[in-house]
Amino acid sequence: MAWEAVRAVLQHPRCQNCHPQGDAPLQGDDSRPHGQNVLRGPTGRGMVGMECVTCHGPGNLPASYGEHVPPGIASGWRMPTPEHKLVFANMASAALCAQLKDPAQNGGMDSAALRHHLEDPLVTWGWAPGVGRTPIPTPRESFLGAWETWASQGAPCPVAAP
Ligand code: HEC
Ligand code: HEC
Repeated sequence: MAWEAVRAVLQHPRCQNCHPQGDAPLQGDDSRPHGQNVLRGPTGRGMVGMECVTCHGPGNLPASYGEHVPPGIASGWRMPTPEHKLVFANMASAALCAQLKDPAQNGGMDSAALRHHLEDPLVTWGWAPGVGRTPIPTPRESFLGAWETWASQGAPCPVAAP
């Protein structure tokens, strides 16, 4: 089912680490809480003095810097705002699906806006995450194909487990 292919990407560590239940981003393939007590802050860009971009620059560092360095993107590293948390981590499939489609929870995005967002550097980074991080195994074209199939079917969600 197309949704299942989409779900598997959303809940891959490279995606869900910025989409946690709580206010700390996650890190690593085990999605553990981010070190240094980093928190979402009022706009998703971190707390005063601990903004994400203090450490996360405009791109991944060259491989010569080795592992465990902060990754980066040109459009500004950040996580969703407290108003629209867009939780991916530890969500049941049906609830994740419903949340994604609900404009009240996704920041007012319709299907076209959501599809457009998939071209954002925040998202494309997951396929080129830098040295020492597992890229998303689903090829990007397959993910986009699954997304479009799902959307064209009317974005059906699985029935919630009782
Ligand atoms: C560096 C943090 C970060 C990473 C990594 C990240 N996202 Fe996001 N994501 C965000 C932010 C921030 C938003 C809110 C929209 C914005 O600010 O542009 C968002 C919003 C979204 C949305 C739209 C909102 C909704 O309705 O749920 C989708 C879909 C999404 N991300 C998918 C992904 C996917 C797929 C990946 C992995 C390939 C990913 N994200 C990785 C930060 C991130
Ligand atoms: C004090 C520096 C610092 C600040 C501030 C900081 N980070 Fe990080 N971040 C790091 C480092 C270093 C790593 C890499 C850790 C590693 O690979 O072992 C990292 C890794 C991450 C990862 C893991 C990527 C992955 O998939 O494994 C995410 C997500 C992340 N940071 C999000 C954020 C967000 C969101 C903010 C702001 C709210 C932020 N960080 C603020 C230093 C920082």
